[in-house]
Amino acid sequence: MSENFKKHHVGAGLRARPPNKTGQPQGVAPTTLFTSSGGLFIVGTDTGVGKTVITAALAMALRAKGVDVGVMKPVSTGGKRPLDALFLKKAAQVADPLDWINPVHLTPPLAPWVASRVTGQKISLQKIRQAYRRLQTKHSFLLVEGTGGLLVPITASFTILDLAREFGFPIVVVARAGLGTLNHIGLTLRALKEAKLEVAGVVMNGFPPIQKQTLAERTNAEAIKSLYKVGWLTKVPWEPTVSVEKGILGNIQLIVNKCIKI
Ligand SMILES: Nc1ncnc2c1ncn2[C@@H]1O[C@H](COP(=O)(O)OP(=O)(O)O)[C@@H](O)[C@H]1O
Ligand SMILES: [Mg+2]
Repeated sequence: MSENFKKHHVGAGLRARPPNKTGQPQGVAPTTLFTSSGGLFIVGTDTGVGKTVITAALAMALRAKGVDVGVMKPVSTGGKRPLDALFLKKAAQVADPLDWINPVHLTPPLAPWVASRVTGQKISLQKIRQAYRRLQTKHSFLLVEGTGGLLVPITASFTILDLAREFGFPIVVVARAGLGTLNHIGLTLRALKEAKLEVAGVVMNGFPPIQKQTLAERTNAEAIKSLYKVGWLTKVPWEPTVSVEKGILGNIQLIVNKCIKI
């Protein structure tokens, strides 16, 4: 852990609180989150749950505290351009080559291993490890965004979970807000426990204003708190001005300010 990092005593405390009157989920009593890790690995319960948005928001919050934060999306798929990596680079305002941030990108919108079988393009774990070492040397804290969920195959015998284990950072689980998420979070936490990986926290993402929330959205966070010993649990609102696909940070600052107190 760098001195810079220690100095700021970085913690993202995010305990779920009841929604406020405007219906925006809030939540936020700072507690110590990152103590000695040098980074966080952000995994999803699925694809499209908000990993990139949350990783970007964390990067911005850390940067605002003066932490020298690097970002990484080791493997991405789908489309000509690596949109996640570009979004993270923009949010973190780092000058690192895109090749380091995103050493592997494949165009088919498939799990990496399957995409590599379709294109015949071999995925080099060495390339990922080399980029990781470079970023780790350069920055005092690293945020790494996974691909899809934990058991997504990067190669036939290497999953996102294996990569997370290799990097060794505590895990942030990003999950949906609504119906189905209890099962997804439960499965993810169980797999992490079995792999003996430390869970830094759970982020439930994409809550609509309270008037529009489903019963599941209104009860899920409390259920998670009762079912699991999660260090911190955050509810993040849906902020319609944000778009990973369009590379628009929009009012992501609202997410940072409301939900990611460091
Ligand atoms: N809290 C949020 N507010 C508004 N849009 C969001 C939010 N979280 C995610 N999105 C949008 O939902 C989509 C999926 O989010 P993303 O972060 O790319 O998910 P993942 O990285 O898990 O695939 C993107 O279009 C993104 O802009
Ligand atoms: Mg993403």
